[in-house]
Amino acid sequence: MAPNAPLPKIVRTVKDLRRHITIFRKAGETVALVPTMGALHDGHLKLVETAKKKAQRAVVSIFVNPTQFAPGEDLARYPRDEAGDRAKLAVVCTDLIWAPSPDEMYGENFATRIEVEGAAKVLEGEFRPHHFGGVATVCCKLFSQVTPDIAIFGEKDYQQLCVIQQMVRDLNLPLKIHGMATVREKDGLALSSRNAYLSEEERARAPVLNATIRKVAEMVASGSRQHAAINTATKALEKAGFGPIDYIAVADAETLGPWRHGTGRPGRVLAAAKLGTTRLIDNVPIPTTT
Ligand code: PAJ
Repeated sequence: MAPNAPLPKIVRTVKDLRRHITIFRKAGETVALVPTMGALHDGHLKLVETAKKKAQRAVVSIFVNPTQFAPGEDLARYPRDEAGDRAKLAVVCTDLIWAPSPDEMYGENFATRIEVEGAAKVLEGEFRPHHFGGVATVCCKLFSQVTPDIAIFGEKDYQQLCVIQQMVRDLNLPLKIHGMATVREKDGLALSSRNAYLSEEERARAPVLNATIRKVAEMVASGSRQHAAINTATKALEKAGFGPIDYIAVADAETLGPWRHGTGRPGRVLAAAKLGTTRLIDNVPIPTTT
């Protein structure tokens, strides 16, 4: 930590970004990228701290990506605080902030989109069918703009991490993807920029989501029937005022397909549900019982 560190430079054009990356590369330095949509919290900053450990230079992108929001989602009200983000990024010694405008990212006549299947089609993919195509497209662009050796993603968006890993494998993109555990409040609520939408009263009920999926993970780890565990969880979330509940799912941690007890495969419990007008997502590993 460096509380009095200078504010990191912000670049807004691909040309300027490339100039800075070239300087790093000429000095023989490695580069790590942390893609974000801003409104940064300690979860994001943890990724940047890891970026600094994994490479000599840490580049953080801040771009609220319109192509991953559907009409009617929260693109317009998504929290934005560039000055606050910059001050936080100084503390974790960020080397460069890449903050393009939508026009710089998606120029006139932009007409290319990455199509993702497999793990992208289930869960979030069913409820937000456009979403991962937009995420994959912008991440592919960020990777080719910044040309990092490594990019750091959070398990908070576990399915996103799977989709990005798949894309990097499938397209032979020359970088490593590193996943980091979810950073949580003391009461279990996963830190999220969208938590800012919660009223005080909703905030008090929000940790029930994590407690509930942890319970599902424990139950299925000890051999309980998945159907029964999910039913109990649905009732618990409804009782706490969540709804609609988009999904509570027990999935293979790599393919996001079905998971079976006793096969030795890693598993994950994932859920998405609305609390008031805020859609919350969370996931936990299924403990291994050997
Ligand atoms: P955003 O929601 O800003 O998240 C940026 C990164 O921070 C993601 O990798 C996310 O998983 C991670 N993150 C968020 N909350 C976290 C927490 N509590 N603990 C650990 N990591 C956390 O995810 C996106 O932006 C966008 O989809 C993006 C990848 C930038 C593409 O537009």
